[in-house]
Amino acid sequence: MKNLMKHSYSYILLMAIVTFFACQTEDDGGGNAATTIVPSFELTISEQNPLTINVVNTSTGANGLTSFWQFRQGGPLQQDVSGSATHTYGASGEYQVSLIIQGPNGNVEISDTVIVDDGVVVTPPVANLKDATNSFSIGMAVQASRLTDEHDEILKSDFNNLTAEFEMKMNIMYPSQGTYDFTAADAIVNYGVANDMDIHGHTLIWHNSVPDWVENFTGTDEEFETMIEDYITTVVTRYSGTIRSWDVVNEAIEDNTGALRNSVFRTRMGDDYIAKCYQFARNADPNILLFYNDYNITFDTNKQATMFSIVDDLMAQGLIDGVGAQMHIDIYFPSASQIQSVVNGTVSRGLKMHFSELDVRVNPGNDISQLTEARAIEQRNKVREVVEIYDAIPNQNKFALTVWGLRDSETWLVDFWGQPDWPLLYNNDFTTKPAHDGFIEALSN
Ligand code: XIL
Repeated sequence: MKNLMKHSYSYILLMAIVTFFACQTEDDGGGNAATTIVPSFELTISEQNPLTINVVNTSTGANGLTSFWQFRQGGPLQQDVSGSATHTYGASGEYQVSLIIQGPNGNVEISDTVIVDDGVVVTPPVANLKDATNSFSIGMAVQASRLTDEHDEILKSDFNNLTAEFEMKMNIMYPSQGTYDFTAADAIVNYGVANDMDIHGHTLIWHNSVPDWVENFTGTDEEFETMIEDYITTVVTRYSGTIRSWDVVNEAIEDNTGALRNSVFRTRMGDDYIAKCYQFARNADPNILLFYNDYNITFDTNKQATMFSIVDDLMAQGLIDGVGAQMHIDIYFPSASQIQSVVNGTVSRGLKMHFSELDVRVNPGNDISQLTEARAIEQRNKVREVVEIYDAIPNQNKFALTVWGLRDSETWLVDFWGQPDWPLLYNNDFTTKPAHDGFIEALSN
């Protein structure tokens, strides 16, 4: 049985007597008279030290039972040996104090909240991601239907770069030959422009978002290439001046082998289809930044090697400005040095580095069914590590760090892996997770 009450105390001496009907009536086993446990405690703030509290156990019906104090939510339990205790907090703040009695039928618990304040003014940490740095932009993957209400508020406070999660892909923007649909893309771009945000275009060519009519294109290879040139030209031109950067080709390389992935683009246009597409984009607008974007290029060494050889080829033709390393990672993997390796290769070439698509799985082994505090802290640490690596990049090579979704309930990963996970920075109720703190901590040093 559990009873929890919120109550605030001012920092001057106050006394609270916490008695609630968080009681437990015990049968003695023979159906006879029962004992009722009524937990209660008194809480006072010390006159000597405003960060010290005194608690007195005033429970009834608890004789002979073991009780514990807990001075902060999730904090260590301290056995109540004498019926009273003193605790000094390290800093001003609001803390939950609990008394837990081990009854014969389970724990009986009562809690209250105390505010202690020693008057020392601590500079509040920056609360919003985008305020924590001005050397790179903070990106978020968005959907046109998620630009209002709390999404709108958080997008404006935390982020200054938008990527369409799926609505700027070919299957959405070019559903049938000669007919474009820019409805959702326009909504996202208009929102970004209205709110003074950068927009990262994602993605012109991706084997996973090919409309059927393109996959089954009926014309000649030459006509196919002309169609792709028209498509890239049309899209890039439409958003010229508003979209600052594009992922031109996404995920062109196989896992492990590092071979060039087969796709309709490769079959129809040849192995040099990648350079052709970058050339089409460059021709459409020479001022936009062109990126190559892929996943697992931190730790998959063959994939990374092929990626940099493609990049070198594009560089030789003046067709690329940056590398996007998708950060679909987990709390255990990849390591900091693996992440650093793709940064080093990008920076040594003088290119911009985009940490695109950040999400950090906490349940890759599918061994938890709800987010635990321990995993949330490991996630915070991993996010902090990733952001620290990014922040250490020379400023001229920085671009953006983009998070792939706002709330845990909105992640693509649950569908993708078919198991629960909580990989993002916001809880479903739009409150920040420890991972959000980790992001800011990395930029606060
Ligand atoms: C995913 C989106 O999150 C989903 O909403 C969509 O249905 C499929 O694509 N690599 C990429 C992203 O480059 O475009 C993918 O996004 C995730 C993997």
